[in-house]
Amino acid sequence: MTGQLIGPIAITDVAHGGWGVGRWDGRVVFVSGTLPGETVTAEVTEQRSKLWFARTSEVHAASPDRVDHIWPLAATTGVGGADLGHVALPAQRRWKQAVLEQQLRRLAHQEVAVTVEAAPGDDADNGLGWRTRVSFTADQDGRLAMYVPYSDQLVAVDSMPLAAAAITAAAPWRERFPAGHRVTLVQSASGPIHAVLTPPAAGRSAAPTTADEGPPSRQPDWDLTDASSLVMVEGGPAAPVITEQVVWAGRQLTYQVAADGFWQVHRQAPEVLVAAVMAALPDTARTVFDLYAGAGLFAQPLAAQTATRKVIAVEGDSRAALRLAANLQAYPAARSYQGEVRRLLADSALPRRADAVVLDPPRAGAGRAVVAALAERRPDTIVYVACDPASLARDVALLADQHYGLSQLRAFDLFPHTHHIEAVAVFQRQ
Ligand SMILES: C[S@@+](CC[C@H](N)C(=O)[O-])C[C@H]1O[C@@H](n2cnc3c(N)ncnc32)[C@H](O)[C@@H]1O
Repeated sequence: MTGQLIGPIAITDVAHGGWGVGRWDGRVVFVSGTLPGETVTAEVTEQRSKLWFARTSEVHAASPDRVDHIWPLAATTGVGGADLGHVALPAQRRWKQAVLEQQLRRLAHQEVAVTVEAAPGDDADNGLGWRTRVSFTADQDGRLAMYVPYSDQLVAVDSMPLAAAAITAAAPWRERFPAGHRVTLVQSASGPIHAVLTPPAAGRSAAPTTADEGPPSRQPDWDLTDASSLVMVEGGPAAPVITEQVVWAGRQLTYQVAADGFWQVHRQAPEVLVAAVMAALPDTARTVFDLYAGAGLFAQPLAAQTATRKVIAVEGDSRAALRLAANLQAYPAARSYQGEVRRLLADSALPRRADAVVLDPPRAGAGRAVVAALAERRPDTIVYVACDPASLARDVALLADQHYGLSQLRAFDLFPHTHHIEAVAVFQRQ
């Protein structure tokens, strides 16, 4: 029964998604806000047949790895994604390591030992201030707010400890926006913070309203702050292009990115991932695919490394693909394609052979058809950048079926205080 208090529950394990796992009354219970080794009472939030989900309401025996939550509002409401904010940073990394190893064991039947590497500067900053992109939804009163997980409830916020310091300083905390609009604050390599305002997506309702409390009719005040630190822009096709920079092997690479387009969120993530991907690829590879390329984070250093290398970069989103093409313009041997990866691999537009492949799929992973189409091209090396350990593990199993063995796995803590983890897996043809 939702809302029921259950316990005491001994937490014995962790599960993907930021859950501690225990048993109560013969059932498996997934509990948020706890740690292995703890005993807690928890409030049931959801029941799915025999699986129950609950949130910690009282800790009877605390783990030595428990700390005061980095964000009290998140501790009580769950907003902002800081679901491991009550766990000491080194223990968060052990937690993520356990989840990654567990997913590979369960879904790929492979025993792999991995160490989760911290991003430069995070230990000194206690894992705070890393987000260069933060999204809010305006609540019924037009305030910047965030959703309580698994609900439509919005909670107004006036700080966000994971956001880069420049975002926190420039954020329009006291401004009012049209209810239901999304406000994304973006810090780029240079220039002001952009506040990108996007109406609710078609089909998705705005923040719930009641007859008594309609959304505020006032439009935002467009010159609300010091224009040198914050500019308000529209999302969608009218979104401006901003500049990002990445230093790789002593070179400074410059990228155009739509202000509301995909870019790795942790301030160090672009450099950490480019270094890891480039180190995993043989520099002799002549034809290299970069699939799910975004604005070309990996495609550009791949092309810059060897002038004659044929880089084949594929991106599905039309606006990101425009930026991808622009970011590869200086490299005559590189080609960019806009389209769905599976479809483009299936038709004859892309080369039939590749020496190496980089892929960075969305959370759902690559899947059977893409893995099979890659294997047909017989690359010696596949470098897979993964943001979801379960999807990675499923694709590891599919790649093994196609005779690609996992030769290296690195994991990076690019989302401190959240359960998320980024991995770079390298496969060799056997
Ligand atoms: C995780 S992002 C990675 C982007 C880029 N590698 C980076 O790190 O900046 C995944 C990208 O894949 C694109 N994408 C998602 N599904 C796709 C599909 N089925 N076909 C082509 N592109 C897709 C998204 O638009 C997004 O830009």
